[in-house]
Amino acid sequence: MLYHSNSKSSKHSGQSISKEDFEPIKVIGRGGFGKVYMVKKRSSGKVYAMKVLCKDQIAQKNLSLKTQVEREIMEKIKSPFIVNLHYAFQTAEKLYFIMDFLNGGELFYHLRKEQRFNEQRSRFYAAQLICALECLHKNGIIYRDLKPENILLDHDGNLRITDFGLSKSGALGGGNKTYSFCGTPEYVAPEIITGAGHDQSVDWWSLGALIYEMLCGHPPFYSQNQNKMLQDRVQKKVQMYDFFSPEARQLLHALLERDPLRRLGNATLIKQQPWFKSIDWKKLMEKKLKPPFIPKVSSPDDTSNIDQMFLRETIKETMPMVNMNSFTSMQKNHFGNFTYIANKQSNIISSSGAGSPSTDTQTVNTSQTEDKGYKGVHSKHFEDINEEEDDENGDHGEMFVEIVQSH
Ligand SMILES: Nc1ncnc2c1ncn2[C@@H]1O[C@H](COP(=O)(O)OP(=O)(O)OP(=O)(O)O)[C@@H](O)[C@H]1O
Ligand SMILES: [Mg+2]
Repeated sequence: MLYHSNSKSSKHSGQSISKEDFEPIKVIGRGGFGKVYMVKKRSSGKVYAMKVLCKDQIAQKNLSLKTQVEREIMEKIKSPFIVNLHYAFQTAEKLYFIMDFLNGGELFYHLRKEQRFNEQRSRFYAAQLICALECLHKNGIIYRDLKPENILLDHDGNLRITDFGLSKSGALGGGNKTYSFCGTPEYVAPEIITGAGHDQSVDWWSLGALIYEMLCGHPPFYSQNQNKMLQDRVQKKVQMYDFFSPEARQLLHALLERDPLRRLGNATLIKQQPWFKSIDWKKLMEKKLKPPFIPKVSSPDDTSNIDQMFLRETIKETMPMVNMNSFTSMQKNHFGNFTYIANKQSNIISSSGAGSPSTDTQTVNTSQTEDKGYKGVHSKHFEDINEEEDDENGDHGEMFVEIVQSH
């Protein structure tokens, strides 16, 4: 057992890991606090995705705890449908996550290209997402940012979710709620907008919004006017298209239920919905179901499914805007114990719980999707995370044990 403090590289039993071990090849994504690169591990030639976060930007927004939560979740959770973290380390200015590089492309990229998916393809992705969310919920985690940009396909066409930057860790249970105002406008649940307090059921709302978008090409309540989009969600009934099958409509009614107490709120019940009748859940978990779409990928470092917008970016890392020395030791210490080297333990957990469907939605008989001016470009996520409250409920302040496993 070894605890690591604020060191530049991780050293354990002769193994050490730092940014020098990885050669940046291309930019593959951009986030709120830095870039994501495709990198090669110099010693093995293996390709990974490296997410880099700038400490100064995080500390300026007092969000240092969120990076600890993100790292902890990725360390703790092992699921076939959640991105694998291999290493985490830091320099004086930056935090680094080394993950599997999923080169099948964002679900966002494919959905934008094809506009909408058929029910069979949507069902397959929805089923894998249910398993991912079920695993997180069982571990006391609310994901809070389910959207097509955070869902990545692997070269076989199976998906994994990434980005735990908005997640809440620390089981709520017993009707307890959390009050952070965060999410992405197109997918955020009404109770987050109203500030009524929320729990894990916000993820099931977002799943409903995502299934809706996969089926018709735009999210429910979409408007170019963001205020209207948020207001409609708490006031209006959701429009259904008549090309949605009755089973799909039944599921969407149940998930897009405004009242979280009446929303279909647990994985077991969702899996039993008629829309999922054809899914063999055991085979799905074992990845034995043939994915409905196989991305064209020629090698582990093929980036043809990554948006050109990112690939054109220079791989040069940006330098911090402010001197880290200007931060208080408390702010700096929040980045301590960040280092992580993965082991191969698995932590896949099954589902349980109760919930009830509802029908607080409206069916509109339209065979064509309305032109809502939706270009598939989503709003930026917003975050006003109550870190004190998160800290009380979770255990993020603790130090973490590293278990070394060779790769
Ligand atoms: N493991 C990965 N493999 C391939 N691409 C990835 C991987 N992780 C992230 N990406 C790409 O980088 C993009 C940004 O990453 P991510 O969503 O983690 O950052 P973010 O949105 O800035 O998160 P945060 O909320 O922490 O600011 C993703 O949408 C995805 O396109
Ligand atoms: Mg993201």
